[in-house]
Amino acid sequence: MLLFVLATLTASAFAAPWLKDEFEPCSAKDLEFEKCAVRNIQLAFTKFRGGVPDYELPAFDPWFVPEILMDYSQQGIEGHMLVKNSRAVGLSTAQIQAFRANLTDPDNLEFQVDFYIPHVFVEGEYKADGKIVTFPIGGKGIYNISMDDVSGTWTIQGYLVEVNGEKYMKARHVLMYPQVGNMSVYASNLFTGNDELNKVALQFANDYWPLFYRELLPYAAQGWDQFMRGTLNKLLLSVPFNSLVPDYEQQL
Ligand SMILES: *[C@@H]1O[C@H](CO)[C@@H](O)[C@H](O)[C@H]1NC(C)=O
Ligand SMILES: *[C@@H]1O[C@H](CO)[C@@H](O)[C@H](O)[C@H]1NC(C)=O
Ligand SMILES: *[C@@H]1O[C@H](CO)[C@@H](O)[C@H](O)[C@H]1NC(C)=O
Repeated sequence: MLLFVLATLTASAFAAPWLKDEFEPCSAKDLEFEKCAVRNIQLAFTKFRGGVPDYELPAFDPWFVPEILMDYSQQGIEGHMLVKNSRAVGLSTAQIQAFRANLTDPDNLEFQVDFYIPHVFVEGEYKADGKIVTFPIGGKGIYNISMDDVSGTWTIQGYLVEVNGEKYMKARHVLMYPQVGNMSVYASNLFTGNDELNKVALQFANDYWPLFYRELLPYAAQGWDQFMRGTLNKLLLSVPFNSLVPDYEQQL
């Protein structure tokens, strides 16, 4: 999704002819810069949900995530989870609420986007193994998660690098710790073949999802950060920072 945030900023820079007709350019010098960016990002969410193959922007609704790896270890609980072939539906319905950019220090650039999404559905495959104290758990199957009222802030932190005399932004972190209003989860085969135990565990997870969510979020966020950073940096290295944020040099 952040690709689109960045793509939109690019658009606002006149630099991308494919977007020029659709988006109102925003200048970093303009007092209305942040409002202007919110409008563009919102428009991008609706317009580019299917992706833009010519610019290697993938579709994001549904959004396909090939693989995320999570390592969990805390208070006698230890686990490794590989989540594969996930498909998320609903991201294009995001309402963009605010945008902030902090460009004062080229070694610590920060962009933030506040969003609200009414409903997100995620499904895919998983493989997990681990133990609770000494009791081993493990499984391999499919999962799905349904979430209502998802809100939060995407944060991109990065710094400027120079390549062939041209400045580019490189992302150091892509952070996201969304709040969720309601959630229901399903996973098959959590205890390799023990259906009864699976049912009990799912009931428990659904009754106490805020607890699990709070515990697992930092680990999910880490896997997410790694995945997004890689994807984002590929895009960022193809767009000089000056066209991403026009008038940046003049601001310094
Ligand atoms: C912007 O970033 C600078 C340098 O990283 C920091 O010192 C400053 O507090 C930030 N400003 C705001 C408004 O967050
Ligand atoms: C999640 O998957 C299970 C098993 O395939 C299915 O019964 C359930 O309807 C799915 N949940 C949603 C919201 O689609
Ligand atoms: C949360 O979702 C569950 C399962 O779908 C549902 O039974 C419950 O009513 C929902 N709670 C709220 C507050 O919407």
